[in-house]
Amino acid sequence: MNEVENTMPLVIDGGRKTFHKDLTIPDPIPSQAYGRVEEIMKSAKLFRYSGKSADESETALLEKEFAEYLGVKYALAVTSCSSAIFIGLMAAGIERGDKVLMPAFTFTAVPSSIVHAGAEPLMVETDDNYVINIADLEKKVAENPDAKYLLLSHMRGHVADMDKVVAICEANDIVLMEDAAHALGNTYNGQQAGTFGQMGAFSFQSTKMINAGEGGMLTSNDPHIMAKAIILAGAYEKQWAKQFFDRPDLLEKYQGYYPAYNMRLNEVSAAIARPQIANIDTKGEKFRRNYFTIANILNRSEFIDVPNRVDNELPVPNSIQFNLRGLTGEKIRTFIETTAQEGIKIAVFGMAEDNARCFWNWRYLDTSNEELPITEGMLKTACDLRLPVFLDQEDVSTMGNLIVRAIDRVKNMQETKAVLTAAD
Ligand SMILES: Cc1ncc(COP(=O)(O)O)c(C=O)c1O
Repeated sequence: MNEVENTMPLVIDGGRKTFHKDLTIPDPIPSQAYGRVEEIMKSAKLFRYSGKSADESETALLEKEFAEYLGVKYALAVTSCSSAIFIGLMAAGIERGDKVLMPAFTFTAVPSSIVHAGAEPLMVETDDNYVINIADLEKKVAENPDAKYLLLSHMRGHVADMDKVVAICEANDIVLMEDAAHALGNTYNGQQAGTFGQMGAFSFQSTKMINAGEGGMLTSNDPHIMAKAIILAGAYEKQWAKQFFDRPDLLEKYQGYYPAYNMRLNEVSAAIARPQIANIDTKGEKFRRNYFTIANILNRSEFIDVPNRVDNELPVPNSIQFNLRGLTGEKIRTFIETTAQEGIKIAVFGMAEDNARCFWNWRYLDTSNEELPITEGMLKTACDLRLPVFLDQEDVSTMGNLIVRAIDRVKNMQETKAVLTAAD
């Protein structure tokens, strides 16, 4: 377990109540992983294909168990979610210059992976509930009949109306890949996020549901896509014989015809990730309880809006996003400073100079002509707050109350200023 002080969440600091738990601490690694990692290190067989068969490989077993958890046919373990997106796009047949639709609110790794695949990101508006704007998706699809891929980030675990997204993709022959880096364990209509399209991509970077430091997974039900992906990820000279894959004929067929980009996961990372699959649902339940407790407290403030999530979504949120309403930039800054002084580090996406989730900071793309007023407006007032798994109900209630109290103080400052100005 992490060294997290499990005492009362509040300390009195100079007469002021301050939340003192470190919100940056990643989720703990289950103790079952420790022994296995030691065994792997002692054997020196860190390479996924070092053993004699799939049964001897932590990576192959992780793939099998991950696919079973999601209810998909195939999973391929790779070095990161970015690798999964890149390999997935290449396996789906993307060509240089192809356009890839994507929500404008996502992490820089997403457009970067599109660029890595030689393609061109085509941004779609994101609503102030943080999911893709369906009307703009329809508009961009109609305006760009040559755009045949949608890379849909379920950003911060907010899942869009998947019935509509899937219908649009099917009607327009668009390949749907879900970036479920933030949505492992999240369901919509009882179906796992990441399983609605032809491919799903997941991350095991430390702030995600599974913490393996780094790592990722590509999933699919399509044996052709998966066979190509296995070879693209680096299964040279029939190394794929040490993987669980039921179509060796396809691997024989594609071997040598696709480059090997060597983006394989290693055995140590796989051994760290594997026992975490069993914890996804219990962790998810805790995340959900904490999220709705703090959301209800925050929504009591007239200056805070925690937007409703889409119907039929069962989220597993390890962070909360909320929009500030009716406050000027200066007051928002004061609110952020006040909460930071009280131990709660909130980021407003659009306020930091270099936030990697703001499209205008992706300077490797030419975004100067992008017209994304809905996304831009949302990013300017949307707050982001981590809710790590060690928090309990008392912690999140304390945090919620401190935040509401801080915003009340900002409001009162505003009123005092207004009165003073009137008296002048
Ligand atoms: C929404 C989103 N998608 C994809 C990625 C890429 O994940 P990775 O770091 O595993 O490449 C990230 C990284 O944090 C992310 O936030």
